[in-house]
Amino acid sequence: MGLPQPPDLGASALPPGTYSGQVVVVTGGGTGLGKAIATEFARLGAAVAIWSRKEEHRAAGLAAVEATGARGMATECDIRKPEAVAGAFDAVEKELGLPDVLVNNAAGNFPAPAEDLSPNGWRVVVDIVLNGTFYCSREFGRRHIAAGTPGSIINVGASYSWTGGPGFSHSAASKAGVKNMTETLAVEWGPYGIRINGLVPGLFPHEDETADIRSTPGRGVNEDMRAPAGRVGYPRELGWAATYLASPYAAYVSGHTMVVDGANWQRRAMTNPEFTPIRDQMGKGPFEM
Ligand code: HXC
Ligand code: NAP
Repeated sequence: MGLPQPPDLGASALPPGTYSGQVVVVTGGGTGLGKAIATEFARLGAAVAIWSRKEEHRAAGLAAVEATGARGMATECDIRKPEAVAGAFDAVEKELGLPDVLVNNAAGNFPAPAEDLSPNGWRVVVDIVLNGTFYCSREFGRRHIAAGTPGSIINVGASYSWTGGPGFSHSAASKAGVKNMTETLAVEWGPYGIRINGLVPGLFPHEDETADIRSTPGRGVNEDMRAPAGRVGYPRELGWAATYLASPYAAYVSGHTMVVDGANWQRRAMTNPEFTPIRDQMGKGPFEM
């Protein structure tokens, strides 16, 4: 049987207009889970700004936001560049006002055994996931502290922050850093009225997955049966969690990382299936220098 199906797309637990008059930035909001999160904020009345590198992604995110009847904005921004992040904040402040909510959702990732990773391959993922999240958070925090206004940050993570991520050493280390940063900033910025929480999706397939992610062994194959829930997550479920965490109904929740994965990451047991080395799991041949 597994876990029940969620309500339909378009439903919401929060009152209509929860985010009326508020401005929300979603990095990487033009694809996949970021787009789903942006849509749920828009449905609840927020004006939503989509930041990413590729024009076609931003256009898709903007269209999804505007289809709800909300106001949208799309800004080119490579979050690895602090000056581009500052410029994107300036652009949003000018057009919509200082963002009330920042969703650090953008990520870079590809499967690779650690021994195959080049220094630059490691660096790009750390730069996007860990450094980019810090640059966006820092800019958001400084502007709110200076203005004396409250705000809320959601950092989208991954459960290998706790467990390690064989085959994804760069992403797992970066996401662990993001989880830790969530806890630090929640303490530092609580006195200024700024909340910081993490949000971790489990297996959430979607049509925008990159070829690299699709190539991960097991991805796309019988996915519903790969978790105790007996089903995958639906992007709208992550959108509902994000809109709750940033809302006034979570006003006392900060420094927390919420996992939305049907308890999949707790399933480890003393006797696991026989172990296959990661290199073999990934279908790689013998290692060569
Ligand atoms: C090995 C790779 C590689 C691969 C890139 N590199 N892809 N190495 N296997 N599949 C190496 C390159 O050879 C290069 O190193 C370095 O990484 C930088 O590559 P570029 O293509 O120049 O980087 P860039 O254009 O900046 O693109 C960043 C990227 C790309 C991360 C590599 O994939 C990207 O833009 N991704 C954004 C979207 C994304 O990744 N979404 C996934 C999020 S999902 P050298 O040494 O050759 O210069 C997610 C799910 C989590 O996080 C859960 C999964 C289980
Ligand atoms: P996705 O569709 O590949 O989205 C990644 C987004 O990040 C893209 O829109 C991309 O846009 C943007 N991005 C990448 N590098 C950027 C940069 N340097 N500057 C600005 N934007 C950048 O991935 P997803 O599956 O929706 O993942 C969303 C989040 O959920 C990520 O944090 C991911 O780690 C996490 N997650 C996903 C799953 C899952 O099952 N899908 C599981 C665990 C965790 P541009 O290319 O236009 O820049």
